[in-house]
Amino acid sequence: MEIFKKNDKLSYLIHRNYHLLPVLNRFGIKLGIKNKTVEDICRERKISTGFFLAIVNTYHNEEYFPREELLSFSPLEITHYLRKTHQYYFQHIVPKLDDLLAKLIASSHHDFKGLQMVDVFYKKYKKELNQHIDHEEERVFPYVINLVKNHKIDPKYTIRSFEQEHSNVDEKLNDLKNLIIKYISPDYDENICNDFLITLSLFEKDLEDHARIEDKILMPITIEIENKLGR
Ligand SMILES: [Fe+2]
Ligand SMILES: [Fe+2]
Repeated sequence: MEIFKKNDKLSYLIHRNYHLLPVLNRFGIKLGIKNKTVEDICRERKISTGFFLAIVNTYHNEEYFPREELLSFSPLEITHYLRKTHQYYFQHIVPKLDDLLAKLIASSHHDFKGLQMVDVFYKKYKKELNQHIDHEEERVFPYVINLVKNHKIDPKYTIRSFEQEHSNVDEKLNDLKNLIIKYISPDYDENICNDFLITLSLFEKDLEDHARIEDKILMPITIEIENKLGR
């Protein structure tokens, strides 16, 4: 298992795994990075190097998990990163999927049933994803931020009261892919369909990683803070 280190050049990370590009963007990093190392960039952008490495390594390796450093990460830094990820989904990925699906449907002359099923399923999925993310943005993250900034606990809640299953969001995306792979008729533009499926697959991978950060990093840190404050 390859683990990126602080002395690695950032360009090396991108050559090894270009899927990290949107992850870097969430930290405000854009290209033109010359020979700067991870540590140089983090110092420049005032990002905690440990947190940055934990995020890129979690993304790069599914088995990697920063158990030891876990509790040293700032919940504010984590929620900031998670919010940037939500923005990326709604400002970039979802509009791209909308557009590709509309083009895919337009490219088909006869397969009204199969692609219509995909369309209905996709719209339903989008609604559920929206609700899930709204819940985090409006309830979960403000709860965590308030806990960290004001050291106050609300007797009515703990982080567990806000916890929502991620399995639903993950599984539905897989069902959607299956629907396309198995049940549409071969009456469509294959390049558009491939783009749609590839974008869905990348989204699925990104979402899984995102959920892992929420469940395995943000959640235990928040529970630890609650415990310290006497919950
Ligand atoms: Fe989220
Ligand atoms: Fe989530």
